[in-house]
Amino acid sequence: MSRRKIALIGAGNIGGTLALLSMQRQLGDVTLFDVFGGTAKGKALDLSQMASLAGNDMHLKGTDSYADIKGADVCIITAGFPRKPGMGREDLLQKNLEVMKQVASGVREYAPKAFCVVVTNPLDAMVYAFHKASNLPKSHVVGMAGVLDSTRFRMFLSEELQISRNDIQAFVLGGHGDDMVPLTRFSNAGGIPLPQLVEMGMLKQDKLDAMVERTRKGGGEIVQLLGNGSAFYTPALSAIEMAESYLYDQKRLLPCATYLEGEYGYNNIFAGVPIIIGANGVEKVVELQLEPNEKEAFERSMASVQKTVDEVNAFN
Ligand code: APR
Repeated sequence: MSRRKIALIGAGNIGGTLALLSMQRQLGDVTLFDVFGGTAKGKALDLSQMASLAGNDMHLKGTDSYADIKGADVCIITAGFPRKPGMGREDLLQKNLEVMKQVASGVREYAPKAFCVVVTNPLDAMVYAFHKASNLPKSHVVGMAGVLDSTRFRMFLSEELQISRNDIQAFVLGGHGDDMVPLTRFSNAGGIPLPQLVEMGMLKQDKLDAMVERTRKGGGEIVQLLGNGSAFYTPALSAIEMAESYLYDQKRLLPCATYLEGEYGYNNIFAGVPIIIGANGVEKVVELQLEPNEKEAFERSMASVQKTVDEVNAFN
């Protein structure tokens, strides 16, 4: 079987980390694209030299020409501008919308069969804009947010509970904004749902509430600390996990931004919900039975997503 081809659109902090992870995990040959071709070429060359030291035969190429992504199996899109301190994800909207249109046109022309993972913020609006402009099937366009937000929640829980990260499952629903919905009822330690851990006295409700809030603001916390840019290691691995599920037909059940057509009562919008990713892309959207308070929080988050989607439509 010929090697798979991974196209990474955007060779910044996340793009470079994606290239490193793709190489180390031997996902396939990597094409790193950026409007600043030198950045893409420099990182690809550095990583090729690292691969040679590591005895790894994956090829890495940097480029500023979309023709080089021809036939890619997976495209992970991080092209755009990151948040600066004090800047909301929505402030980025207009700038990154233009970028999405360019990327969509390149991907549609050269890699129309690729499974595409959009990472650029504001995520829910960017994945919607990319889907609309590229006209790729909804099964092959997803947004990366839920995996990242869930793993942040998971890390906080592990530290608070003093239980191995391996035994914590966490689940975040809705948009990738400050009103995202960490679902405590669907999050657990060793299979024990969080509300039950509270009842058992293993977790204090106020601590849980604080972790929910910290998860919601998890991206902003890192933006403040870095002072120049936003998180990149965990966003990169989150997108890789989604890509791997497609490439290896793993059928993982992951929270991702997916196109809704009636599910959860929404239409023509991308939102973070559990989906199964396999060789056919998005193979199933899993509909949870939400309790009234969860539904209300989900609806609030969806109202924010709708607002940015309306702005996308207004710019077009
Ligand atoms: N086409 C291709 N690449 C572009 C374009 C474009 N039209 N416009 C900008 N880029 C490139 C930049 O040159 C830069 O190398 O996108 C890259 C973005 O990299 P960083 O600024 O380092 O941002 P990063 O941390 O990788 O985050 C990328 O993901 O999580 C989101 O909020 C984050 O929207 C941001 C995106």
